[in-house]
Amino acid sequence: MKRSKSSAKWLRDHENDEFVQRARREGYRSRASYKLLEIDDKFRLLSPGTRVVDLGAAPGGWTQVAAQRTGGQGRIVALDILPMEPVAGTVFIQGDFTEESVLDELIRVVGGPVDLVISDMAPNMSGMKAVDQPRQAYLVELAVDLVDKVLRPGGNLVVKCFEGEGIGDIREMFRSRFDKVSNVKPKASRGKSREIYLVGCGFRPI
Ligand SMILES: C[S@@+](CC[C@H](N)C(=O)[O-])C[C@H]1O[C@@H](n2cnc3c(N)ncnc32)[C@H](O)[C@@H]1O
Repeated sequence: MKRSKSSAKWLRDHENDEFVQRARREGYRSRASYKLLEIDDKFRLLSPGTRVVDLGAAPGGWTQVAAQRTGGQGRIVALDILPMEPVAGTVFIQGDFTEESVLDELIRVVGGPVDLVISDMAPNMSGMKAVDQPRQAYLVELAVDLVDKVLRPGGNLVVKCFEGEGIGDIREMFRSRFDKVSNVKPKASRGKSREIYLVGCGFRPI
């Protein structure tokens, strides 16, 4: 009884959400698109020709934004553990990014240095901070590890993180690699969630 009541409330809140309604009107697959749009408006990461890796891409809201803003001239490789409908002009790999073989496949498909890595990966949430926080931190570490392998010097990184234990170490990983590190809480990121995005600009390979 309690469960169905809270599901009904979630559904009502979701339907009334400003960004859900905008996404429907404007043809985006998820409200998450507005997070990347806001980040990109601020940091100017995407332009025609930008080569992008998009981690945790499904259902494809960020991939759509990346495809639009690179004007069909970028090379965008998106990856998710879940299946995803194709986005025109992009390549999709389905696989678990924690698996070595999937990382190898991604590097093979990317085929050279990229200008930007974006990661909106998030684990299935258990609701228990002690479980979710380290799982998220692990996905962030893997995204940073990918950067060391594929990002060109001077390139940029955007990663979803959770505020809380371990975020200091993550910021340190960013500071040791990027000229400038910024925290962003986009308007489309729900106020009560601990989600923030770290943006690293100007990659210095270590
Ligand atoms: C918040 S959603 C991404 C939303 C997406 N950026 C968009 O704009 O539509 C997080 C995604 O991370 C993916 N994910 C979580 N763990 C993953 C893993 N180990 N490997 C690949 N994808 C993963 C989930 O399947 C989910 O689709």
